[in-house]
Amino acid sequence: MLELRHISKTYRIGPIETAILSDLSITFSAGEVVSIMGGSGSGKTTFMNIVGLLDKPTSGEYRINGQDVLSATADRLSALRNQLVGFVFQSYFLLPRLSAWRNVALPLLYRGTSDGEARRRALAILERVGLGDRCDHKPSELSGGQRQRVAIARALVGAPAVVLADEPTGALDPAVAQGIMDLFTEMNRELGVLVLIITHDPKVAAQCPRRVVLRHGRIFESVEPMLELAH
Ligand SMILES: Nc1ncnc2c1ncn2[C@@H]1O[C@H](COP(=O)(O)OP(=O)(O)OP(=O)(O)O)[C@@H](O)[C@H]1O
Ligand SMILES: [Mg+2]
Repeated sequence: MLELRHISKTYRIGPIETAILSDLSITFSAGEVVSIMGGSGSGKTTFMNIVGLLDKPTSGEYRINGQDVLSATADRLSALRNQLVGFVFQSYFLLPRLSAWRNVALPLLYRGTSDGEARRRALAILERVGLGDRCDHKPSELSGGQRQRVAIARALVGAPAVVLADEPTGALDPAVAQGIMDLFTEMNRELGVLVLIITHDPKVAAQCPRRVVLRHGRIFESVEPMLELAH
């Protein structure tokens, strides 16, 4: 479904060019749940932004369902992104002036869903992340973990084919974190959603049937069972 070939990403600051991702090739299929681990600064967020069509690689090929997406126009990319991908950003990116439910409803409103229907679906998903009683709160009136759950609800509300989550359980206590993992797993089982989870938490990674690691700009399949790391 997502096919990345020979992807490289370099940043140039002044005269210095730094390679963040080098010649990275990987394929993700519909219905997979994959964890992405790697040290801080190893390029996980950079990789997620490329996979989610928010950023372009310096070189390489990227096909989604067989179609080249790197040559797509900006309009086509926004439409693809809105239809295909749900993001949980590392820093949430909630809009401060909007209530929780309006934040969650945004992806639906962008694609032209009516206000009433968007509200109904936003409330249902907020209920599922345990925030049914917080839907009229603004982000500043929520705790860090509650904001994270609003961000997760926003990623899931449009029933995307791909969910890209950057440290989705980082600010959550273990019980709530497990609830969120269960929600991702359910979405995966019920709807065949492809879930990519960036995490530093071996317990989260251990629940993902496929695990990859970014190191020195390259991506590796993690073959050793990581379960023992979780204890
Ligand atoms: N816009 C940019 N310009 C220049 N360098 C950048 C830019 N964005 C990221 N980098 C560099 O790319 C590297 C990878 O950053 P990235 O955010 O992808 O790391 P990460 O693996 O997500 O780390 P963390 O676990 O801390 O979130 C870092 O060294 C960072 O300084
Ligand atoms: Mg990051």
